[in-house]
This record gives sequence, structure tokens and C-alpha cells, in this order.
Amino acid sequence: MKHYDVMIIGSGAAGLSVALALPSELNIVLISKSSIDESATFYAQGGISAVMDHADTTDAHITDTLIAGAGLCDVDAVTNIVSNGRDRIEWLIEQGVPFSTRTSRSGVEEFHLTQEGGHSHRRVVHAADATGAAVEKTLVKKVKELPNVTLLERHAAIDLIKTKKTSSSSFKCVGAYLYDSINSAIVTIAAKTVVLGTGGIGKVYLYTSNPDVATGDGIAMAWRAGCSIANMEFVQFHPTCLYHPQAKTILLTEALRGEGGKLILPNGDRFMQKFDPRAELASRDVVARAIDHEMKRLGIDCVHLDISHKPKEFILRHFPSAYETCKKYGIDITTSPIPVVPAAHYLCGGVLTDINGKTELDGLYAVGEVACTGLHGANRMASNSLLECIVVASSAVNSITTDLTMDFLTVNPPEWDESRVIQGNENVIISHSWDELRRLMWNYVGIVRSDKRLGRAKQRIELLQNEINEFYSHFKVSTDLIELRNLALVAELIVVSALRRKESRGLHYTLDYPDKDESTFKRNTVININT
Ligand code: FAD
Ligand code: SIN
Repeated sequence: MKHYDVMIIGSGAAGLSVALALPSELNIVLISKSSIDESATFYAQGGISAVMDHADTTDAHITDTLIAGAGLCDVDAVTNIVSNGRDRIEWLIEQGVPFSTRTSRSGVEEFHLTQEGGHSHRRVVHAADATGAAVEKTLVKKVKELPNVTLLERHAAIDLIKTKKTSSSSFKCVGAYLYDSINSAIVTIAAKTVVLGTGGIGKVYLYTSNPDVATGDGIAMAWRAGCSIANMEFVQFHPTCLYHPQAKTILLTEALRGEGGKLILPNGDRFMQKFDPRAELASRDVVARAIDHEMKRLGIDCVHLDISHKPKEFILRHFPSAYETCKKYGIDITTSPIPVVPAAHYLCGGVLTDINGKTELDGLYAVGEVACTGLHGANRMASNSLLECIVVASSAVNSITTDLTMDFLTVNPPEWDESRVIQGNENVIISHSWDELRRLMWNYVGIVRSDKRLGRAKQRIELLQNEINEFYSHFKVSTDLIELRNLALVAELIVVSALRRKESRGLHYTLDYPDKDESTFKRNTVININT
């Protein structure tokens, strides 16, 4: 068993930023389920929101975030994160992230800022339309240069280990069990502090913009360890993912609409102005629901996103990745509209933390999409996620270093016990359950919900969980099994939370309660395994 000062689980913007900001005398292990750069961060397109323009203000960014959050944002968290945005962007620039620039009318080189839904100003810093890849590659390179950081790729954290603290009856997180998928072996790691940076849950839905690693592992592990989980009903569906039979869902950045892209029906008519005066730049919940409504009303498989009225040179400069990706599927975005559908994109809820990423379990932090700090409330504004990752990573590091000096106990967690399990030979059960779960979540727990659909989903998830738990207790683990067990739990948490919210707010829309109920439901949905 290896001992570290800090174990970071996840190598996206959150995990990497924590690793880079921790003091160099600490002994750190960074765990990644796949290759180090495989993460939602890598695929982020539009950019990172921050107040960079003289005409913009922190107050305006705060107000826009609160409006999008539909009454559930934590004002202190919003104020803290937004106020620290510019400073953290400057830190990314120091690390070497090549953000796009432009020459101003007065001849000064400045950052090009794009516009996205819900933002009242241009405030999204970006690297063309592949911001995430630029951030991820830069931070990975920097982390690899750190001699105090051990990288463990293709290791999936299975569960957290907690023990009773010597001086009191409360618990402390002291490490985690990992599955090493290269050697098919279990590894036990002890650490004084564990940071979850495991990202989101998109794979619980059939159609998603998320990469395969987004299976809610961090939320599931924290839940089993007794942490409170908040606001799981608020799943964001991105309005515009490429619709093509051969394409696994591919996102088409909101910046396309920010730069003038229009949503149209098969007959060429625009429709967003019927739903919101901000039309294509309304917040995501509004746009995704409008598209869903039009698709169901007309019985069509997709709508179209059209930017072809813009000069070709402009499109190639701002959206080179979208251009190349669509070209592979035979679509020239400089001349034709792009077929698009909504897909599961982002979870606003997660492991309940304070503004420093501290969870309720001593020694455990959660940073990034896995966490619920209160920034997003009932609906995240575009490009506020990467902002949260980099700002909270920095405040978490301050808190972790204080904690470490206060509590210097060395721990010896129990080793993993495999004595009663055998090698499984029925992988078809795992793949079938994956498919069934994702399909039922898409059909019953999607953009538009009802008590009846949620009730059906709950029953079916319970049946699946019984089968999965039986499988889990008899057979050796594999990455697929670990992920399936976590996905089923995350599905249950989403459904349970959605059933509790008897109103429609932000990303949660139900036919049974189509209005907001301010007197009863202007509060977070907080659930815990012990209550
Ligand atoms: P991730 O970047 O997802 O990283 C999670 C890491 O945890 C991965 O390394 C993964 O392998 C690892 N992991 C997971 N489970 C385990 C486990 N059990 N054991 C070990 N490792 C594990 N947001 C914006 O602000 N701006 C954008 O322009 C933007 N565009 C987006 C475009 C796409 C296509 C997608 C999918 C998301 C986009 N988002 C955007 C959202 C944003 O990218 C994510 O919310 C953010 O990158 C999450 O960062 P993270 O570090 O929390 O998680
Ligand atoms: C996009 O580029 O449209 C994604 C932005 C985000 O999810 O914040």
C-alpha cells in the first residue's frame, strides 16, 4: 500500500488545477480512469466566462448567473467565483494556454471574447472553438513536469475509504480502492486528503455530449461514504448536438449562435422568437425545451442550425473544429444548415461542498462538475463550468494546505477483500443493463418529465440495481461493472430528486407542475444515504 499527502481522482480542469497549485513539497498522486487527457474538459468548445472587457462588470456577470440559476444560486458562491475569474484566467495564460486574440481598432492586441446564451456581454475567453483541448493539453504538460506528482492512468477509483478519527466519533476519508485496468488488479492507496475531480454523469443518458468517462463515479462514491448530494434533478441538455446516424453525439458550440447562427425548421423558418425574446441566445433550458417541443409537434428527427450566411473566412477562423468535424459527415457549414438535436450535457447538482470544495466528510474535497457549490442553481450559464473548476481548485488548495498542517496522522486503510468473488463470464448482462438504463433515463427522465414517467423509471432502476448489486457481490470488478453500478445509483438519485420537486424550475420541467412554486420549492434538494 502506498501513502500520499494528497490523492486527486480525475485529470480534467479541476484535478489538474489542484495538482498544479498544491505546494511542491507535498507528495501527490493523480488518478485517471482512462488516458490522462480523456475528460469532458478536453472536449469543451465555447470557452471560459470571465469579466475581461472594460465595458463589462463583475456585477453584470453575477446578475446573469443568478438569472440563469432561477432562484437557487448561492449568492456568496456566485460572487466569490465570478470575482476571481479574471485572476484565474491570467493564471491559465501564465501556464501557457493559447487563448484567441484580436487586434483592436486602436491597434492593441487583446483577447477575443465571444458571446453565449444568458450572458449580457461578450465575456467568453476561448481558443477558437477547441478551448478545452488547449486547456487540457497545457495543464497536462505542466503536471507531467512536476517531480512530486505520481500519475496513475487507467486506474478507476472504486470506493473511498473512511475511518473513525482517533480523537472523536466522526469519520475521516483516508484513501480509496482503485481498479488497475492494465493489470486487472486492485490497488489500495492511503492519503491524508482526497480530492474528487471526477466530472459529470452524461453517460447515464442515451444521447450525451459527454465522453465515456462521465459516469458519475465521484458522486456515487461520495454518496456511499455518507456525503450529502444536492440538486440532482437539474440536468442540463445542450440544445445543439450534431444529428447524424454515424456520429456519436458531437457538440456544436453555443458560440455558433453567439456569433449569429440561427435555429430553423425543415421549411427554413426560425422559431426561437416564439419562445423567448432573446431567441437563439435564450438560456439553454429554454432553447432545448423549444427544440424538443418543435420536434414533437412536427414529428421531425432534428432541427437545423444555420451559420452559412456568415462569410466563409469568418466561419473558418472562429469555428475550425466545427467545420472539420461536420465536413467528415458530409456537411459544409459554410454553405448548409447543420442537423441538430439536444443531448444530456452537464449536471448542475453533485456532492454538496462549501466554496472551498470541502465536503461534509473530513479529508474529502470535491471540485468541478462533480461538486455542487451553489454557483449554478437550477441552470448553469454557458462557460461558467470551466470557470468554477479553476477558481474552486485554487480555494480548495488553500484549504487543503491548512488542513494538512493541522492533521498529520498516518493511516493504514484495510486492504480490499476479494476472497469471496470469482471471475465473471456473463458480460452480456453488464452491456444489456447499461443500454437499458441509458434508454429509460432518456425516455422517462429527459427534458420534459411527469410523475408517471419518473415513477416508472424508479421501479425499473430498482430492478436493475438489484441485479447489478448481486453481480457486484459475486464477481470480480471490471471498469464496466464499476461504472454501471455508479450509473444506476446516479440514475436513482436523479429520479428521487426529480420526484421531490413538485414544480418546474430551471432545468427541471414537469408536465404535472408546470409552474414555479416559490413558497415551497425555492430551496435545494439535498439527499443523504443516512436520512
Ligand atoms: P472532467 O474534465 O470531466 O474530468 C473528469 C476526470 O475524472 C477524467 O480524467 C476522468 O477520467 C476522471 N474520472 C472519472 N471517474 C473516475 C474514477 N472512478 N477513477 C479515476 N478517474 C476518474 N464548460 C465550459 O465552461 N465551457 C465550455 O466551452 C464547455 N464546453 C463543453 C463541451 C463539451 C462537449 C462538454 C462535454 C462539456 C463542456 N463544458 C463546457 C462543460 C465542462 O467541460 C465540464 O463541466 C468540465 O470540463 C468538467 O471538468 P472536471 O475537471 O470537473 O471533469
Ligand atoms: C458550448 O460551447 O456550447 C458549451 C459551453 C458550455 O457548456 O459551457
